[in-house]
Amino acid sequence: MKTSKGVKRRRVEKDGDAVVATKLRKEFGGLVAVSGLDLSIPKGTLYGMIGPNGSGKTTAIKMIVGRLRQTSGGARVLGEDSPLSARLADIGYMPQEMAIYTDLTVSENLQLFGSLYSMEREAYIKREEALLSMVDLSERRDSLVSQLSGGMKHRASLACAMIHDPEVLFLDEPTVGVDPELRVGFWQNFADLKARGKTIIITTHYMDEASRCDIVGMMRQGKLIAEGRPEELMERTSTSNLEDAFLEYSWRDSV
Ligand SMILES: Nc1ncnc2c1ncn2[C@@H]1O[C@H](COP(=O)(O)OP(=O)(O)OP(=O)(O)O)[C@@H](O)[C@H]1O
Ligand SMILES: [Mg+2]
Repeated sequence: MKTSKGVKRRRVEKDGDAVVATKLRKEFGGLVAVSGLDLSIPKGTLYGMIGPNGSGKTTAIKMIVGRLRQTSGGARVLGEDSPLSARLADIGYMPQEMAIYTDLTVSENLQLFGSLYSMEREAYIKREEALLSMVDLSERRDSLVSQLSGGMKHRASLACAMIHDPEVLFLDEPTVGVDPELRVGFWQNFADLKARGKTIIITTHYMDEASRCDIVGMMRQGKLIAEGRPEELMERTSTSNLEDAFLEYSWRDSV
C-alpha cells in the first residue's frame, strides 16, 4: 500500500530478501536522521537510494551494516540481525568517508582487507588483478594512498570493499569524483555482479546512475517517500526523468 506520506508497506521477510529494515530509526540528540525506515530488498537486486544531502541515506546504511546503533527498529542482512557476525564476511561496505589506510599502498590495503576475510592466496591474487584493472589502478598498485588523487583514493576504497567478492555490497556514493569514462566501467561491473546474483545497495546523486538501478528508493527527511522501478516512478508522477519524479514526490510528501 502506498500513501502520500511516505511509502507504507507491510514488510514480510522472504527467504529471497538480502536486506530487510523494519521501522529503523536514528535520532542524534533532537535530530531525527532516519525516521522509521522499512525496506525489503530481494537478493540479486541493484537498489539505488537517492535523496538530498542530509536525508538519511548514509545513516540508514551504517545502521544496516552494523556500524551505528539504531535508536529503535531493526535490520537484517541475509537473514541475520544487524550488527552481523556470522554473515559479516558476506557483505562489503564502502563508506562515504575515506576508510582505507593512507600510509599503506593500494596493494597493501587490498591485502589487508583480503586477510580480514581469510582469502586464499591464489583467489586473492586473481581478484586483486581484476579489481585493480576495474578501478584502473594497476599502474598505481604500489603507490601510497596518500599520494593518490581524490578520485583515485575513492577508486581504491571501492576495490577494498569488493576484494572478497561479497554477496551483498553497500556502496555509499562510490562514483563521487570519478571521471565519466570510469563511471561507465563501474556500472558495467555492477551489472555483471548482479547477473551473478549479488545484491548491491548504492547511494548516488547522479540521476543517470539511479535510472540504471532495478529499484530506486527516494529518501527525504529520513523517510522513504517513494520506491519502485525507475520507469514506474516516472510513470506514477507523469515525469520523464527521476529528478522531476523526485521533486513531485517531495511536493506530495510536504503537503
Ligand atoms: N554523527 C552524527 N551526529 C549528529 N548528526 C548526524 C551524525 N551523522 C549524521 N547526522 C545528521 O543526520 C542527518 C542525516 O545525515 P546522513 O549523513 O545520513 O545524510 P545523507 O542522506 O547521507 O546525506 P549526503 O547526501 O550529504 O551524504 C543529517 O542531518 C546529519 O547532519
Ligand atoms: Mg551520505
